[in-house]
Amino acid sequence: MTDENPTLLSATTTQSTNGIKRRSFLKGLGVAGAALSAGSLLTAAEASQSNGIITAGDVAILRFLAAAEILETDLWQQYNELGGIQDSEVPGGSGSPAYAAAIAFLDSDMAQYIHDNTEDEMSHETFINAYLVSKGAEPVSLDPFRTLPSSKATGAQQIGRLTNLMQLTVDTSWWTRYRSRTANPDLGDTFPQAIPTLAVGQHTAIPRTDDDLGNADFLQAIGNTAGFHFATIEQGGSSLYPQLAQRVTSLEVLRILLSIGGTEIMHFQTWSDKAGNIKVLPDLVDPVTGVHVTFPDLNSSPFGGEDFQTNLIMPEPTAFLSRKLPACSIIRPTKTNGAAMGALKALTADGLFIGQSKDFFKFMRTLATEADLAVRES
Ligand SMILES: [Fe+2]
Ligand SMILES: [Fe+2]
Repeated sequence: MTDENPTLLSATTTQSTNGIKRRSFLKGLGVAGAALSAGSLLTAAEASQSNGIITAGDVAILRFLAAAEILETDLWQQYNELGGIQDSEVPGGSGSPAYAAAIAFLDSDMAQYIHDNTEDEMSHETFINAYLVSKGAEPVSLDPFRTLPSSKATGAQQIGRLTNLMQLTVDTSWWTRYRSRTANPDLGDTFPQAIPTLAVGQHTAIPRTDDDLGNADFLQAIGNTAGFHFATIEQGGSSLYPQLAQRVTSLEVLRILLSIGGTEIMHFQTWSDKAGNIKVLPDLVDPVTGVHVTFPDLNSSPFGGEDFQTNLIMPEPTAFLSRKLPACSIIRPTKTNGAAMGALKALTADGLFIGQSKDFFKFMRTLATEADLAVRES
């Protein structure tokens, strides 16, 4: 695969708040001639509204989001094949009743929610790419990177994957971040892990083979790991969309980011609720890797107390913008600088890309860099 569409690369490098450079980009796309002669006094935002043109920055942001959605789809499909509802809306796989039962400990509707989250991601990916094409921009494909192995457990399709759910290091600090009444990552604060043993070592969130179905406690640990990982993924999307929305130019692209971003937040809240239902488990050892995992009672020390009740599913109000302003119930973080690269680093640290090629990381870094160079034009 070529790394990048040359038009988009050159478009990004010419992107600037300087109007002349911006116009030379629009001309380069070959679709803006009429707009330029008729509307040399129009701002980029006005031009994009009236002529259906979007800026290089908007294209870069949408391309990074398309890639992120393709990756989300890939991981959610793996969860759905084993733990979700099997139907034509989310094809592939035939289900693993034992794994689905372990996940269902968290909520009897888990299989439905996994299915619906998967279908949502498929629609996000398809929509953003189709929108890019409708604007004359290059859609994103990660097909050459579908090289990672599938689970060998009964129920999983045997196809190449983009993501690896079998060696995860799950950041569970969103649990404490959304419960803090004083701290905000955008103000430099850090947050303790809810499940410290999940945040170190490598853990599988799906059965790797049917052997993983044999030990009831370890299978429940896999289900618990998935339960926390669902929210870890979706809290990332909940931040990424508002972070990038601050740098788009077209109102229509802003509408896309706000509208899709809202469903990421719905996903996160659902999974945040379910993570509170994990089964408390003593120290367990992965029979394949020797890695330990423990699922503590989240209603007791070192957490516990009103702000740590496991039935809390809404953000506690916290510091926002300035500690001098009153506490506010918000998504956090939402600072925009470096948001795309930050998301890529977080997904990488999660272990999702273990086994991926250098070319994959190079391609993703290029998309993230271009998205983070995007600025809102006036
Ligand atoms: Fe999504
Ligand atoms: Fe999502």
